[in-house]
Amino acid sequence: MIRLQNVSKTYYPTRKSRNATGVEALKPVDLHVPEGQIHGVIGLSGAGKSTLIRCVNLLERPTTGSVSVDGQELTDLSREALNQARHRIGMIFQHFNLLTSRHVFDNVALPLELMGVSRRDIRDRVTPLLELVGLDDKADQYPAQLSGGQKQRVAIARALASRPRVLLCDEATSALDPHTTGAILELLRDINRKLGLTILLITHEMEVVKSICHRVSLISDGELVEAADVGDFFTAPATQLGRDFLNDFLELEPPDALVERLEDQPGAHSHPVVRLAFSGDAVSTPLVSRLARECGVDVSILQAKVESIQDRTLGLMIAELMGDAEDTRRALAYLQDHDLQVEVLGHVQRNA
Ligand SMILES: Nc1ncnc2c1ncn2[C@@H]1O[C@H](COP(=O)(O)OP(=O)(O)OP(=O)(O)O)[C@@H](O)[C@H]1O
Ligand SMILES: [Mg+2]
Repeated sequence: MIRLQNVSKTYYPTRKSRNATGVEALKPVDLHVPEGQIHGVIGLSGAGKSTLIRCVNLLERPTTGSVSVDGQELTDLSREALNQARHRIGMIFQHFNLLTSRHVFDNVALPLELMGVSRRDIRDRVTPLLELVGLDDKADQYPAQLSGGQKQRVAIARALASRPRVLLCDEATSALDPHTTGAILELLRDINRKLGLTILLITHEMEVVKSICHRVSLISDGELVEAADVGDFFTAPATQLGRDFLNDFLELEPPDALVERLEDQPGAHSHPVVRLAFSGDAVSTPLVSRLARECGVDVSILQAKVESIQDRTLGLMIAELMGDAEDTRRALAYLQDHDLQVEVLGHVQRNA
């Protein structure tokens, strides 16, 4: 439904300064979002997320590459044809971008007015949209009278007014509290299911990815560095940046007092400290007692948690493996053999 090929964007200070050094916000990227998918792009501030999403509807014209939405190549279109094509691409923003002088109904009606839809047809279309987003009783209110969550609902209704096939969301919940964020994400999921709408959303929050995305891409310094189904990404991110995002989200870091004692290299009398991630069958395996029985190591659990990510269960643990060098080596091999993701964080001296 959305296909970017070799799309890059360099910002130059002015149109005439193409020879000057610009800001290369997006290096050449390829991205494909199939129909009906909710695809998240996650990255740190300044990574190029907004640039990427704005290239999809050509709010930013890519420096190189081609953009196709719903089978239509956008980069080749005339201005008028592009305006038509944009009716099929809705967009919502972090700060809602409502017109303060128009009440809710007229905000939602605006794109239809611009398309020349009759007043009567506008009423027929806007009323069910306000019902869909749960604001049918707020049609006559002005944006200033609404909460942040309600304003985003208006923006969503407005984005849906032209019956788009694709919805682009630029940090749509970043200005909202966690409870309201949950409600807006629920609404987006509902719209995705009911209308079959394809959604591309960008965010810096793993919670957003976890709760509604089917697939996620990771962007860093203008490059897409990793793409995975969400269950796989949360179980085993492929890049260090992915692991950093996951660990921040899970808040599963070794305690400070332990970090101070961690050494990179094993000593004659040290134990490995490991971070374990396990999913599927491994979650229900009595791991700790097996390590003790089969490998002869004692396991000291320093932190642990179990998360449900879509249809999967993910277990995480930071543990010290206590035994002699041969036993701990066997224990690590045992864990790897049983499909656990094992990361040795360092080594601590025994009896320290
Ligand atoms: N219009 C512009 N002119 C020049 N540079 C820009 C412009 N817009 C963005 N940039 C630069 O491009 C890079 C990527 O910016 P972008 O807004 O896409 O990042 P982002 O990932 O959306 O960040 P945030 O999470 O803070 O919104 C940044 O270095 C930014 O300063
Ligand atoms: Mg941004």
